[in-house]
Amino acid sequence: MIEITDLSVQFGGVRSLDQVTLTFPGGTCGLIGPNGAGKTTLFNVMSGFVTPVSGRVVIDDIDLLDMPDYARARWGVRRTFQTVQAIESLTVYENVLTVHEHAAKGSRSDTQDAVDDVLAFVGLTDVRDKVVRTLSQRDRRFIEVARAIVGAPRIVLFDEPAAGLPEEETEHLAEIIRSVPERTGATAILVDHDMSLVQACCEWTAVLDFGRLVAAGPTADVLHDERVLAAYVGDEEA
Ligand SMILES: Nc1ncnc2c1ncn2[C@@H]1O[C@H](COP(=O)(O)OP(=O)(O)OP(=O)(O)O)[C@@H](O)[C@H]1O
Ligand SMILES: [Mg+2]
Repeated sequence: MIEITDLSVQFGGVRSLDQVTLTFPGGTCGLIGPNGAGKTTLFNVMSGFVTPVSGRVVIDDIDLLDMPDYARARWGVRRTFQTVQAIESLTVYENVLTVHEHAAKGSRSDTQDAVDDVLAFVGLTDVRDKVVRTLSQRDRRFIEVARAIVGAPRIVLFDEPAAGLPEEETEHLAEIIRSVPERTGATAILVDHDMSLVQACCEWTAVLDFGRLVAAGPTADVLHDERVLAAYVGDEEA
């Protein structure tokens, strides 16, 4: 469970998050809303890239915002980015190892096993020793996912993980994202504009629009909520 209270972020004249109060109940949760709604900003606050003007983000009685940003990855806050972050000149294995060595506490062989484990889980064993530069966009997307879930994360933030992924691969991605809580014990949050992906992964979803919470609850209810539909129609007309 992740409890967010009265969270506000200000960039100059723009209030990217405006007194947001919501509780992610656990499992895999959705976070949706039109472009510019504040979804990535919320991820940036949780992972420590952005400092809010007010608010709390509490998980397991710990306020994440009291934790220095460098300590959060080690504690277990992980994320993917809208653009792929893998290092082109390293192999798939090395890319995942780099993240895991930064966060892991176990022995070297435990660390290596964890990396091979996650590569098998996301389906990248065949390209384990290939340099990222030689790989397809599809493989890069799954590397990004592997980097976010290797080891023992506590919170995994997926920011548009399906962007650039061929449609026939989204079912595979959905299966992975859905099983993150059971596999790792983490709470996962999925941001995506693909509502079928959100529906396939998330029992519970929150909606932001212009930095404010518009709705939250069971995904099926939320996707039919008039305020949510209105937010998206407004976006199309813009
Ligand atoms: N570093 C920044 N400096 C200034 N303004 C910012 C910054 N980051 C975000 N914003 C502004 O905050 C608002 C929310 O942006 P955010 O990136 O969180 O939206 P989003 O919901 O992730 O949108 P998208 O679906 O397009 O990714 C936007 O108006 C954006 O321009
Ligand atoms: Mg975004």
